[in-house]
Amino acid sequence: MDLKLEGKVVVVTGGSSGIGLATVDALTREGARVVTCSRDVDKLDAAITGLEHADQVTTTRCNVREGAEVKALAQLVAEKFGVLDGVVNNAGGSRMSPLEKMTTEDWHDELDLKFAPVLNAAHHLVPLMADAEAPSMVNLNAVLAKQPEPKLVATSAARAGLLNLSKSLATRLADDGIRVNSVCLGLVDTGQWQRRYEADGSGATFEEYSAEIAADRGIALGRFGRADEVSPLITFLLSPVSSYITGTSIDVAGGVNRYV
Ligand SMILES: NC(=O)c1ccc[n+]([C@@H]2O[C@H](COP(=O)([O-])OP(=O)(O)OC[C@H]3O[C@@H](n4cnc5c(N)ncnc54)[C@H](OP(=O)(O)O)[C@@H]3O)[C@@H](O)[C@H]2O)c1
Repeated sequence: MDLKLEGKVVVVTGGSSGIGLATVDALTREGARVVTCSRDVDKLDAAITGLEHADQVTTTRCNVREGAEVKALAQLVAEKFGVLDGVVNNAGGSRMSPLEKMTTEDWHDELDLKFAPVLNAAHHLVPLMADAEAPSMVNLNAVLAKQPEPKLVATSAARAGLLNLSKSLATRLADDGIRVNSVCLGLVDTGQWQRRYEADGSGATFEEYSAEIAADRGIALGRFGRADEVSPLITFLLSPVSSYITGTSIDVAGGVNRYV
């Protein structure tokens, strides 16, 4: 299927590892031009250099929680391309957050982590999409938004809010022809989980460690997902081929979701 992404300009935040890196790879294979950012630009450049179509990628340092930095990212896109066809709000993470251990500051930090990047994109990147033919925003989220976990109370609540915000953006931006969708993840083997595994220090292999968590969380497929099992859906949602899909969320979760 031709996804009609040849020559399109897409911003992917957090492209130095995991799902962001896999998405940059998938988009450039479709002929798209990608601008990607992270806070550690050396790590970002090292990761992007390894891609087959690295010449289609522009890298820059940007902390997506800071409005001024996202504004500078938007200026870079405007100067280099003049238009923007898609945004993937991918950069971020999650933290263990049992209710009794969360301070008020922790709550504020978690809410900022989930909301600020998307609001900054809405303020600074969306205006560049005004003249695009089939503009689309994809927000990375988690099944936790609909199915909270006891050890991830703050993250779950913040993700539920982000899902709600994404729906509001879809309704508001539909007037401008911009589609907004969410991809809700289960457990995907990326830098995030590798860091947790290293911190665990139990002596188990990563396969043993992840299989135990998969069993504990009741993942129907019995394993973590891979980043390249998420990036095709993101690519599809950015494509004009998905032109009648907006305001929805799609799970990529191996059956960890227990709702219908
Ligand atoms: N993997 C999972 O199981 C899972 C589950 C649910 C949701 N998610 C969500 O999916 C998204 C991608 O996760 P991943 O697993 O691929 O994570 P990852 O491998 O840890 O990659 C995260 C990327 O985001 C960048 N980043 C983090 N904070 C940033 C900031 N403030 N500004 C700019 N860049 C930032 C990181 O680079 P720097 O650190 O150098 O900035 C890195 O490039 C995240 O939003 C995550 O919360 C993941």
